[in-house]
Amino acid sequence: MAKALTIEWLDAAAASRVEPARPPFARVLICNLHDPALATLRSVAPNAGDLADAHYPGASGRSHFIERRVVLRAFAARCAGADPDAIRINYDEHGAPRVDGVDLFVSVSSRGGRVALAVASSPVGVDLEPVEVAGPVIEDVLGKRERQVLERLSTDARTRAFVQIWTAKEAYLKAIGRGFKRDPTLVNINVRENMFTVEDTGFPAELAAGAYMTLAEEIVACAVLPPRVAGTTF
Ligand SMILES: CC(C)(COP(=O)(O)OP(=O)(O)OC[C@H]1O[C@@H](n2cnc3c(N)ncnc32)[C@H](O)[C@@H]1OP(=O)(O)O)[C@@H](O)C(=O)NCCC(=O)NCCS
Repeated sequence: MAKALTIEWLDAAAASRVEPARPPFARVLICNLHDPALATLRSVAPNAGDLADAHYPGASGRSHFIERRVVLRAFAARCAGADPDAIRINYDEHGAPRVDGVDLFVSVSSRGGRVALAVASSPVGVDLEPVEVAGPVIEDVLGKRERQVLERLSTDARTRAFVQIWTAKEAYLKAIGRGFKRDPTLVNINVRENMFTVEDTGFPAELAAGAYMTLAEEIVACAVLPPRVAGTTF
């Protein structure tokens, strides 16, 4: 069973003054890119990798891409105790952001200028979703156990539980670097209050674990793989 992990949730002000972290660690910055408290992190100049990736046909809108990337690099640099210019981030062949040359892992989720940026000492994934009380349950992404759990719930509880499953699943699929290229029905999320574990068919049980941060209008899930899973081919 995966060891319980502590994820540090930070706002713009806290992230701007955070000290270098000692592994193992996982930190998530949730903020608005235009928050004045983010000025220090935002002041980093884009590098060649950022400018090249701005043209990558990624899932997210490109309009806030450069701001997102420089804040991610500056935040990663603070976590590593490094100069932001020494941190280089590029997409891998699956579109996952990867840090060049250092043992640091990052993940991104955004809705316009609202972002969740994760930095960790092992593979990490983050997802931010609005909490839509009347949102639909998308059956096609559910694993067998998830279906069984949801079937037992009332309509309102099912909708809430689905948002938790969805955000955790997307965070996990980012942590393994495949996104929805991996069949989401092979993955089952077990929600336990503000934490979750992941079972992925064909892999050792409970490979990954994670936690939620629930805010007024959004939910953020962060999934972290144990270091031994790093390098596993999914
Ligand atoms: C990755 C994915 C889950 C993103 O979901 P989303 O809700 O649309 O967008 P989010 O804002 O939460 O996440 C976007 C971030 O995911 C990251 N990402 C993209 N592909 C990734 C992958 N394979 N692994 C990990 N992270 C990935 C990127 O960093 C991107 O942010 P950026 O553009 O600022 O770099 C989804 O686009 C996906 O599964 N893509 C791969 C499969 C694919 O191409 N399918 C066709 C469209 S669904």
